[in-house]
Amino acid sequence: MANEEAEKKKNTTSSEAKQPLKTAKKKALGWMEWLRGWFYLVYEMIFQRILASHLQNPMPLPPINDLTCIVTGSTSGIGREIARQLAEAGAHVVMAVRSTNRAQELVRQWQEEWSGKGLPLNIEVMELDLLSLDSVARFAEAWNARMAPVHVLINNAGIFSIGEPQKFSKDGYEEHMQVNHLAPAMLSILLLPSLIRGSPSRIINVNSTMHYVGFVDPEDMNVVSGKRKYTSVVGYGGSKLAQIMFSSILHKRLPAESGISVVCNTPGIVLTNVARDLPQFLQVGYRLIPYFIFNAEEGSRSTLFAATDPQISEYCEMLKADDWPVCAYISHDCRPTNASEEAHNIETSYKVWEKTLELVGLPSDAVERLIEGEEIKCRYGNSQE
Ligand SMILES: NC(=O)c1ccc[n+]([C@@H]2O[C@H](COP(=O)([O-])OP(=O)(O)OC[C@H]3O[C@@H](n4cnc5c(N)ncnc54)[C@H](OP(=O)(O)O)[C@@H]3O)[C@@H](O)[C@H]2O)c1
Repeated sequence: MANEEAEKKKNTTSSEAKQPLKTAKKKALGWMEWLRGWFYLVYEMIFQRILASHLQNPMPLPPINDLTCIVTGSTSGIGREIARQLAEAGAHVVMAVRSTNRAQELVRQWQEEWSGKGLPLNIEVMELDLLSLDSVARFAEAWNARMAPVHVLINNAGIFSIGEPQKFSKDGYEEHMQVNHLAPAMLSILLLPSLIRGSPSRIINVNSTMHYVGFVDPEDMNVVSGKRKYTSVVGYGGSKLAQIMFSSILHKRLPAESGISVVCNTPGIVLTNVARDLPQFLQVGYRLIPYFIFNAEEGSRSTLFAATDPQISEYCEMLKADDWPVCAYISHDCRPTNASEEAHNIETSYKVWEKTLELVGLPSDAVERLIEGEEIKCRYGNSQE
């Protein structure tokens, strides 16, 4: 622990030296950062198809018969494509979903479509509701009890309740923050024993270019203090930035010997159910611009690339060796790219890391203890529903 603290201090200090103006006292994104963020979003929207024109669709996958991949939110949109394509490439796919009936129906349909093309698809369905931290803990307990490996965990499930008023989960957290960041972060930590068993393994977080317009105040992760006005963009952008910040520290804390790579990626702007909360007239507009917007198959490529490309682990190790402040970030056109300027604020990233572990009821040294093979206690998971 002393070494870790020294390492943490070293990282923080070197970052402060490099970026003296970025302190945790910052209250919001600067105007220039905010404008640059929106510029990136518009740029992605207009040029994503051109930038990704070198990619095949569907993306050819390497042989993955020996991989077990957990995909959250695989009943719809990008996650549905990811699960189907991984299964068709031979992987054992676990659909971690809140609607198990819908997932079973999809599996039945995919098996039918696949029939005659190869061995039956190896897919199973497990219940996971990210709006309940009890459900996350129960999922991890059930999986870890099998003593089976996980090679790829894809934290795909997400919400963007556009224009909706602020809502809170029964755990008391703002819903974007819980579904898009807190619950996947908790799942990643709790599944570490299985990811170690599957090493070399990967945690892939389906993130978003919207993190460029996001800001996280670690003292006010749920945007309740009144210091900032809540909008769905504040909720969504903040949750995606928090995910990158947490992932960056997880990436640093996992020793190279663990063989676990942590990656965030952006799928591009994709026509899925994510826009279900848009007003009707905007939904029509959204569907009228298919030339610019990826379909779900195109939108699944950066995640599938991050999950299966053989060079990803090497790239992550290189970032770690260089003491780069942010974990690997893969763009919609499957190229390593840079996360936002704010994501490089390592002092805030450490605070987000600590606050996240506190909010999900895990000890601050959870990673180190799990790596050592110790069991850890979690505040959630024992209550009956
Ligand atoms: N579409 C885009 O343009 C875009 C751009 C950037 C990033 N992303 C990210 O891509 C990811 C996938 O989004 P999508 O576009 O494919 O949206 P989608 O079609 O709405 O799919 C979201 C999935 O997440 C699941 N989910 C939502 N709340 C959940 C909960 N409480 N517990 C468990 N699962 C839950 C949904 O399950 P149900 O079917 O049961 O609702 C669904 O399967 C998200 O993380 C999103 O932020 C999307």
